[in-house]
Amino acid sequence: MNLEMVIPRHIAIVMDGNGRWAQQRKRPRLFGHHRGAEAVRTTVKTCGQLSVECLTLFAFSSENWKRPEEEVDGLMSLLMTALNREAKGLVKHGVRLKFIGDIQGFSEKLQTKIKQVEELTAGGDGLLLQVAANYGGRWDIVEAAKALLSRQPDLNELTETSLSKELSTQGVPDPDLFIRTGGERRISNFLLWQLAYSELYFTDLLWPDFDEQALTEAIQDFSKRQRRFGMTGEQVKEGLHA
Ligand code: IPE
Ligand code: IPE
Ligand code: MG
Repeated sequence: MNLEMVIPRHIAIVMDGNGRWAQQRKRPRLFGHHRGAEAVRTTVKTCGQLSVECLTLFAFSSENWKRPEEEVDGLMSLLMTALNREAKGLVKHGVRLKFIGDIQGFSEKLQTKIKQVEELTAGGDGLLLQVAANYGGRWDIVEAAKALLSRQPDLNELTETSLSKELSTQGVPDPDLFIRTGGERRISNFLLWQLAYSELYFTDLLWPDFDEQALTEAIQDFSKRQRRFGMTGEQVKEGLHA
């Protein structure tokens, strides 16, 4: 491992390109999603080894319901299979699984399984794995505002800090590094609020091809960035950000 790497505390990934990966091989899109699930395993393992604190993966957006029924059904059963298959391994490696998103949109069976694996892994003291499923960044902000205002209708209490505490990612530092595979350069309604000062990294690699080497390259690129948060480069060098 390169010792000069600055390890991000929180990495957020839009895992894009499964469909194209399959199409290039003249296989159904779902084949690509299955291979994408394998890439998830690799990335979770690597993040654990690198002592990344939190990994947030975009698994299914609130807009992905627009896809053909067959693909949506296939993704739902893949999610179920992956939860069943990976639960034990997550516990073994101290990974704490947390879903963010409107899971009430899923079948009762899937909701129960999600809660079950969340509870099973709740004691994990290693990587926090946030899976964004039926997630939308705008939904997250609206839900947070509703939750806050229902308890505290005083508009003066609505601040950046108080709203942040109501988001689905509450208690987790904002992502340091955002990665999108698959060649598109857009956010697609992922963590809109939380990405305000994240470093953005885009790669043309399709998600099933994103391996340990690819993640290391992204982190090496991140390590070279100077994060200024609105300050001048000189101020940052003088350590005024501390
Ligand atoms: C991302 O891969 C996975 C999900 C959205 C569930 P895509 O399925 O979007 O793959 P492309 O973009 O069509 O290649
Ligand atoms: C974003 O990918 C959502 C996930 C990776 C789950 P999409 O493939 O749905 O994004 P668009 O439609 O190209 O913006
Ligand atoms: Mg896509």
